[in-house]
Amino acid sequence: MMRRFSDAFMMQTRPPTLMAAVEYHPTAYRTHTLGQIQESGSELLTTEVKICGFMEAVRGKGKICFMDIRDGTGRCQIFFKEGTVDKQTMTRAQNLARESTVQVLGVVAQKRPPKVAEGEPIPPPTYEVVASTFNVITEAATPLPLGVIDTVSVGLDTRLDNRFMDLRRAHVSAMFTLRSRVLQYGREHLITEGFKEINSPKIIASASEGGTNLFPMMYFDTPAFLSQSPQLYKQLTILGGMERVFEIGPAFRAENHDTYRHLNEFISFDIEGAWMDDNDVMAVLERMIHHIWQSVADNDQEQMDIINHYRISQDEQPITVDVPTLPFPRIEYCDAIKMIQDAGKDITWGDDIESSHCDIIAAKYPGFHFLPRWPMAMKPFYIHHITGEDGATGEQLSRGFDLNYGRDEMTSGGQREHKVEVLEKNLRNKGLEPNDFSFYTDGFRYGAPPHAGWGLGVARLLMSLTGARNVRETVLFPRDRQRVTP
Ligand code: AMO
Repeated sequence: MMRRFSDAFMMQTRPPTLMAAVEYHPTAYRTHTLGQIQESGSELLTTEVKICGFMEAVRGKGKICFMDIRDGTGRCQIFFKEGTVDKQTMTRAQNLARESTVQVLGVVAQKRPPKVAEGEPIPPPTYEVVASTFNVITEAATPLPLGVIDTVSVGLDTRLDNRFMDLRRAHVSAMFTLRSRVLQYGREHLITEGFKEINSPKIIASASEGGTNLFPMMYFDTPAFLSQSPQLYKQLTILGGMERVFEIGPAFRAENHDTYRHLNEFISFDIEGAWMDDNDVMAVLERMIHHIWQSVADNDQEQMDIINHYRISQDEQPITVDVPTLPFPRIEYCDAIKMIQDAGKDITWGDDIESSHCDIIAAKYPGFHFLPRWPMAMKPFYIHHITGEDGATGEQLSRGFDLNYGRDEMTSGGQREHKVEVLEKNLRNKGLEPNDFSFYTDGFRYGAPPHAGWGLGVARLLMSLTGARNVRETVLFPRDRQRVTP
């Protein structure tokens, strides 16, 4: 039997995740990281090293003491004994405030193994540094705005007001390590599918997602806005023949929402591809999410364990990385409405699917699921429709879709309208003036490939991966109705 090209493509083995070993070079302040000392302790035994870190805890008041320090790669115990360091250094170390930054010169040694009961397995060796020189770089003020190593629950506002300190906490650091990995895996997946990374302007002259939620600004003497989405620009690159593009960048929405999943500035992960329809880009999206989840499961269990350690300390259920199976379920808008009606809700064709309705769908589809084929009237002007593709009430369907995880929308996207006369009609139908969009519509006058794409909310994706209940937990410095600082 003849094999189709698409079969052959699918059968190619995927390149492994591009997780190169990290190489830390010595810097002006340290010869080794604390992670290197733990990982390569046996090779470094008796070697003199210079290390730096934040001081977490100090134990012992007499002629010996132990100090735990932490850098961005791990932790290490420093052993101070009188004779190897002078009395003054010892006193300084014993009285130092937590979170002060220190530099230590010393020799790598094996830690005394813990006592284990007979028959119990002996744990692998761990390493410490026996200090000869100790330097306090900066001393921390007391009290700390919030604790770093204790597991006392701290309110989100206090955490965000003191994010620099919050970030020192292990589970918060793990969250942002995972965020970085998610972006890395997403990028690497798209690159393997032929997408190129682009950057579109964030100062714009006209809205793409409706005119009401724009942040206005002055661009010299001209009124302008902060970009709501790279939508029109990513499409222009397709019209420029770039074939497949993606962008990870900020989007600004002057929305009044004050919920666990809305921000006024968020990172939008967008793609756009030529010669593709809505089904094609849904397939790209599910393959990318599968790759992200699989890569996290393969490489980042350590970060999940740190998050789970914290969750358990807060009496919360641990989370697991369940790699989703492909394809994700697809529940067309018409079927979703019927499902919601069957659950006794008052909803009619043409209504939006609200969060409470999503709960009904999520009860049956708790993981990722697509909601394709929304009514054209509910989708933006740039979405494509096939004339005569009608819904239950005879109204025009669109080639627009959403991707939800449980009750939360992660992505919306669709095939785009590529015929300029339809595009201009769509604009007028939405009460918009085509001339205001000529920088965009002109791009369709000289040959336009059919194309499709989507925009994914990065913070929401992180929520679904890490079990965070508020989008602000997954964003370093969130911007919402109440917060524009830090
Ligand atoms: P949309 O407006 O649905 O589509 O946005 C795409 C995705 O971005 C996320 N998102 C948000 N996240 C946090 N706070 C917000 N206020 C917020 N608004 C949106 C959501 C959402 O699914 N141009 C289209 C995409 C496309 O068709 O390519 C667009 O921007 O996860």
